[in-house]
Amino acid sequence: MTGHIIWSRGLLRLLDQRLLPDRIEYVECRTPQEAAAAIRNMVVRGAPAIGVTAAYGVALAAFCAEGGSAGSRLAAVLSAGEELKRARPTAVNLAWAVERMVARAREAVDGGAGALADLLSGEAEAIHAEDIASCRAIGANGLPLMPEGGRVLTHCNAGALATGGYGTALGLVRAAREAGRIKMVYADETRPYLQGARLTAWELVEDEIPVTVLCDDMAASLMAKGRVDVVVVGADRIAANGDTANKIGTYGVAVLARHHRIPFLVAAPSSTFDLSIPSGKGIPIEERTPDEVAVIAGRRMVPRGAAVIHPAFDVTPASLITAIVTERGVISEVTDANVARVVGRSSR
Ligand code: MRU
Repeated sequence: MTGHIIWSRGLLRLLDQRLLPDRIEYVECRTPQEAAAAIRNMVVRGAPAIGVTAAYGVALAAFCAEGGSAGSRLAAVLSAGEELKRARPTAVNLAWAVERMVARAREAVDGGAGALADLLSGEAEAIHAEDIASCRAIGANGLPLMPEGGRVLTHCNAGALATGGYGTALGLVRAAREAGRIKMVYADETRPYLQGARLTAWELVEDEIPVTVLCDDMAASLMAKGRVDVVVVGADRIAANGDTANKIGTYGVAVLARHHRIPFLVAAPSSTFDLSIPSGKGIPIEERTPDEVAVIAGRRMVPRGAAVIHPAFDVTPASLITAIVTERGVISEVTDANVARVVGRSSR
């Protein structure tokens, strides 16, 4: 797939995901404010991808502040970090990446202007590379859970576009495809933002992996007909007990999977876990503009006067999740103790 997050010292180029699948265009960011706006406005989306982008955004702050004193450079980095963290509230990878960058800046701020920019550039590149490596490890760790001749249903886009590269849920699909195990990927269109129809289908077509798009409300009948062997989704934030926030509609898919006795897998790197939150009740859920629901292709479909809601994520309780596949191993059954055992230690 075409590179979607491209960094060259002081310039961040982001594939504009809002325009896919029609057009391939890049948005250029030279300041942390531009990177934060790109996250807020969905140029780039997906939990690990916005974490990687935020890391580069913090590095941009150091490049922009090269002329100032050590104190002013650190202040610029800290304030950029705060602005980037506010860009979207649910995916914890964003705050995780910013905090890692800020910690690095604090260690190194006295080293001179160019040194700080170089160091933060290197740290952001490391976060990016580690995320791709994590996705590949998720694919390898989850492969034994993927059935031969598998017909996989996924929701939203948890692919290369949503990560540093390769993908989490689609990382598992790609690993299974490489092992000859994928018969079909069913991609929920994922109303209202259509990440499944626009992005998951685009990625899979590019990779020549068979994909069928369905409206979200068709998943139940597909499952009832015995046409889905396994569900694989990504995650935006996973609480200490394994409750998982992901794209709105994921919870419904998990309920359906349980009813039809279909394994429901979550694929996510350890940076998506927020062990400070005991359960899903504490996960902040982004509310986006109702216009994204009410207006389709420029035409208003809902009469004015009707209220419209748009929670962008929902929480799937751990009890509905068969396994969470991480780069450090598989969590199954999904309990507090197993979450702590697999991801509870620091990797650094
Ligand atoms: O609103 P989005 O498109 O950022 O939501 C993305 C999702 O919900 C993904 O499933 C999740 O971030 C996992 S990405 C590997």
